[in-house]
Amino acid sequence: MSYLLGIDVSTTATKALVIDERGEMIAAASDPYDFVTPRPLWAEQNPADWWRACVSVIRRVLEKIPARDIAGIGLTGQMHGLVLLDADGNVLRPCILWNDQRTGKQCDEITQRAGGAKNLLQMIGNPALPGFTAPKILWVRENEPAVYARAAHVLLPKDYLRYKLTGAYATEVSDASGTALLDVAKRNWSDELLHALEVPRAWLPDVHESPVVSAKISASAANETGLLQGTPVVGGGGDQAAQAVGAGIVQQGIVSATLGTSGVVFASSDAYRLEPNGLLHAFCHAVPGKWHWMGVMLSAAGSFRWFRDALGEEEKRVSREEKRDAYDILTAEAAKAPAGSEGLIFLPYLTGERTPYPDPDARGVYFGITLRHGKPHFVRATLEGVAYGLRDSLELLRALGLNITQVRASGGGARSPLWRQILADVFHSEIALVNITEGAAYGAALLAGVGAGVYASVADACAQTIRVTDSVMPSRDAPVYDEYYQVYRALYPALKEQFQAVGAITARHV
Ligand code: XUL
Repeated sequence: MSYLLGIDVSTTATKALVIDERGEMIAAASDPYDFVTPRPLWAEQNPADWWRACVSVIRRVLEKIPARDIAGIGLTGQMHGLVLLDADGNVLRPCILWNDQRTGKQCDEITQRAGGAKNLLQMIGNPALPGFTAPKILWVRENEPAVYARAAHVLLPKDYLRYKLTGAYATEVSDASGTALLDVAKRNWSDELLHALEVPRAWLPDVHESPVVSAKISASAANETGLLQGTPVVGGGGDQAAQAVGAGIVQQGIVSATLGTSGVVFASSDAYRLEPNGLLHAFCHAVPGKWHWMGVMLSAAGSFRWFRDALGEEEKRVSREEKRDAYDILTAEAAKAPAGSEGLIFLPYLTGERTPYPDPDARGVYFGITLRHGKPHFVRATLEGVAYGLRDSLELLRALGLNITQVRASGGGARSPLWRQILADVFHSEIALVNITEGAAYGAALLAGVGAGVYASVADACAQTIRVTDSVMPSRDAPVYDEYYQVYRALYPALKEQFQAVGAITARHV
């Protein structure tokens, strides 16, 4: 029996899991760390923390399974982060993370150097967004010239672990898509944009397809981790693409909706096609020859967590006393209110928004409050508002002509049957659950299995391991949500200027 190792360098922890070739979980370990915010809107992490955690989780899973039985390793992780190395491979400064918002000015510069927003879309399939990697390189050039002068290599977070494990400077297409330097249509670096930005191509790693063996475990890494020297390491994937592989989102028509802190709608596409306004990310999929579209909402289950923490004191007390989950108590409350919350509508823009409104000034709103509204309405409206926000991404997919046959829900929020029913009604779609809940690390392990020859293809890996375990269909409440959704859609444009005004006032006073 062959075993496969998936490693996920996420924002909160590095996780490792081992599965057997039937997809059964054999071992798992996780080692947490924090990120720092040296200034408001900045977010940084030290790559040395990832490596320390990586060594520790590998050593822990190897207590359960001998290193010689690991047929392949797949890497995944938080996307978009900038790791800068000197010519000897030393880290030059902390990694600037995906959720760092310091580079608005550099995004404008990229657009201008590319010859305008339309040209940029043609070059890389996406606009330059502050979270992406390229504007961070320009930020370092402008603000830390001494660091920039010593730079020789640019890596993404999971690719830094690959460098430590194998000595190779390499990446793969799905994560590289989020740098804003990849020609997503051609699945290789955009020479045109690199030239316009005056960033040396030699700094960028080789780009592989995700299930292809990119390098092998080196002698020194074998010594440090306990892995066998020569074990193959495949390309892997950005966390969203790997998570999609781990949920079986590898064919057109099956879409995933992830209710984590952020909310992601992810669709596989058989052909490269960009969303005309760049509102959905158009990235390479971790499946060779496929692409994917992605809409990212910044506060999905994060909105529900905020509600629990800010307004759920009573539920948290009952939760402690009765040893029940506070979220379950809150959703039981929500079930007492009717579909549509009697006209109470929540806009979930608690940390600004990305899709379909790339606007850091957007704010959360409860709209339509009357004397009839009590706590059950507010909880339900929160769940419904998140569903409306995700429907915005689904509508962009439908406008591209995608025929959505099934939506697979995942992430912590998908555990709630009420929330899944609301999603089915708001989306007008079946909402399914699958047997795999381990997310990106699981998808990375499947990609390793393809590279190691255990599976014939990514689709074959998914077919052998992933199955639907539960499913709910739209109910007769769906038409009510349709009517409220039209109001929801009109609210952001109506409030956009006021969001900006409030942002400016609070910046002066807080
Ligand atoms: C994807 C994104 C996040 C990060 C961190 O575009 O920004 O999913 O990869 O998880």
